[in-house]
Amino acid sequence: MHEELDTVLVDFDEGTGIATLTLNRPDALNAMNAQMNEDIETGLALLDERDAEAEGVAVRVVVFEGTGDRAFSAGADITGFADRSPAAFDAHPMRDTVIEFPAPTIAKIHGYCLGGGLELALACDFRIASESSRFGFPEVDLGIIPGAGGVQYVSRLAGPAFATELAMTGEHVTAERADEEGIVNYAYPDDDLDGEVESFVETIAEKPPLAVRTIKDSGNVAVETDLHEGRKYDRRAFAPLLETEDHEEGARAFAEDDYEPEFKGK
Ligand code: COA
Repeated sequence: MHEELDTVLVDFDEGTGIATLTLNRPDALNAMNAQMNEDIETGLALLDERDAEAEGVAVRVVVFEGTGDRAFSAGADITGFADRSPAAFDAHPMRDTVIEFPAPTIAKIHGYCLGGGLELALACDFRIASESSRFGFPEVDLGIIPGAGGVQYVSRLAGPAFATELAMTGEHVTAERADEEGIVNYAYPDDDLDGEVESFVETIAEKPPLAVRTIKDSGNVAVETDLHEGRKYDRRAFAPLLETEDHEEGARAFAEDDYEPEFKGK
């Protein structure tokens, strides 16, 4: 599937189950306007439809990336910000849809990753960056804050000292610093980014998808609840996986040396 929405390209490879949502406003450094928020929702809904139509699981992994060589995204589109009413600043629920999307999500980051663009990346399960990418929350200079949970998410990944430093100074930090602080999973030399993301995506796409999706949920539960509730969630989520064909397939592959498992999300 290849769909060209106004501001987002949606690609889905039926064979591998790998989807890519490409932010496509390169002239504005992929700044996020209302249309882009809507197009991301539409793209994910199209992928949801593929899942609904499939016998098992269709969508194994979703990659978010940006077109052009300068940015993943320079954040919310600030054109005309001065004329807007406070209600227009409300963080769009699109990032909730990303967080709740059943398949794992990866932000493949190059260039600027700022403000709402960084919050989109933080809504993904993984962030893989090129060494020349730059991260920041510039909102403070507009007299506002990252409104889609940016400080909260960076606080959980790196700690509140780094989160508030980013948001209060508005300064850009290097991928190396972002990696040291733990807000990206990996920072690779620019020329290696494509290959490294591809192999990471393939690794996850080949795993049993129902287990992968349950692990994603468990990660979300871990940041949203306490340890006691989290352990209860894991115990409840574990038992149904024992009944899946994929569990049987994995157990068979473990027992038989030459057997290549094929996981179907059933
Ligand atoms: N919203 C709308 N347009 C944006 C944008 C944004 N957030 N960020 C960049 N652009 C546009 C610029 O207006 C410019 O358009 P033009 O070529 O039509 O003039 C184009 O993208 C290139 O940006 P430019 O500022 O010329 O590039 P630069 O290399 O000098 O600076 C940045 C790059 C990212 C440092 C700078 O664009 C910037 O600070 N952007 C705003 C970031 C921001 O505040 N985001 C959060 C908003 S809450």
